[in-house]
Amino acid sequence: MKLFIEKLPGTKISTAPEDLVCYGFDASGIQVQPAAVVWPDTTEDVVKVMKHAYKNGIPVVPRGAGTGMTAGSVPVKGAVILSFERMKRIVEIDSENLNVVCEPGVINGKLQRELEWKGFFYPPDPASMNFCTIGGNVAENAGGPRAIKYGVTRDYVMEIESVLPNGDVMTSGVKTSKGVVGYDLTHLLTGSEGTLSVFTKIRLKILPLPAGVVTLLAVFNNLEASGDAVTKIISSKIIPRTLEFMDREAISAVEKFKPVGLPRDAEAVLLIECDGNPLAITKEAEKIADICRQLGAEIKMAEDEYARNNLWASRRAISPALYQIKPDKINEDIVVPRNMVTKMLTSLRKLSEETGIRIVNFGHAGDGNIHVNIMVDRQDKEEYRKGLDLVKKVFQETIALGGTISGEHGVGLTKARYIGMELSKKEIEIMESIKKVFDPGNILNPGKIFPH
Ligand code: MLT
Ligand code: ZN
Repeated sequence: MKLFIEKLPGTKISTAPEDLVCYGFDASGIQVQPAAVVWPDTTEDVVKVMKHAYKNGIPVVPRGAGTGMTAGSVPVKGAVILSFERMKRIVEIDSENLNVVCEPGVINGKLQRELEWKGFFYPPDPASMNFCTIGGNVAENAGGPRAIKYGVTRDYVMEIESVLPNGDVMTSGVKTSKGVVGYDLTHLLTGSEGTLSVFTKIRLKILPLPAGVVTLLAVFNNLEASGDAVTKIISSKIIPRTLEFMDREAISAVEKFKPVGLPRDAEAVLLIECDGNPLAITKEAEKIADICRQLGAEIKMAEDEYARNNLWASRRAISPALYQIKPDKINEDIVVPRNMVTKMLTSLRKLSEETGIRIVNFGHAGDGNIHVNIMVDRQDKEEYRKGLDLVKKVFQETIALGGTISGEHGVGLTKARYIGMELSKKEIEIMESIKKVFDPGNILNPGKIFPH
């Protein structure tokens, strides 16, 4: 790595063991230490790194905050981590054209707050929004609870400045609200998991802040009824801004971890929000409450901002809370058609009973997106093997129901071996050729997405 450091004077670089440890893992729990960590300040710094890496065949892995679930930012051996903590400027809020330009290291939650302060709204809200970065969100095409009404990150990306593996700078996309000239490279880069280019500036669409929000908690004593409520709410032609699901185990784990008074004896809860015109949303919320009551639910309403924030803090804490159940979890991210949620939840319960492995389910049920957490102890080889067998079964059932194996966490390393269950050979072949066009030397985040 000495050569690397000499060639990049002025750029902050470290090969200190404590940095190599800290930048070698993400929320998947997989750990591989990089050879060095570089913190660029500018696009020019990234250009310098990429030119040098390209010439010398050094793998480079861009990294946001490392909150990813599929080891997308975990390096291969010998790789350099390009970490964006120092590129965290909100460059411009264009209130006349409703967009914002920011550097990749901006924290999602910080951007949300800056915008809300000015009466604007950036909807994508991954559970890790208080830590994760916009660059990482764009690389993973992150979603979040509000995706049901507002869509995912890709729906907001207008323009990306990025550095290609050979060091060339490319700006793709438009500054306008529409644009259809040529292939849509911007939306190809969005969700490319750091394998095609390194983002250095991102222009995102923003919206006016909704005038009002109503938050409900529907408490069910029957798992199936909660799944049926999801289908009924959607088919009643109301699109709430969130329709989140937690099963009994998720409720119990998060209540031990961050108690906010969720009903521990319930089989499931739905956390539902409507936003918009205060009069309209009151009516929508009443209709949703009626649907849930007819299915046997008890309805609680968040009385104020404090109660609403508490409920969301609890929801966002489920992921870490689950480690109280077992030291490891295999966290999947399936999506089924929304009218298949009950069927999927029933199959998951059956799979758990058959194998004796605990499965905790929560997630964005309104999108049909269930976070299936297969709880294991990796040290227990037999249990871990059973857990991995279960993953395959979960994916088979998902695909049989017309679903997809990942709704928001991406493929990364952990799902690479399974993409052939969903994608055809032709699709994989075309995707691999795209990778080669951008990165003929395979230096940018190698080993991700494609099975090797
Ligand atoms: C969430 O919705 O909480 C995140 O996607 C994280 C997770 O699945 O654990
Ligand atoms: Zn999620």
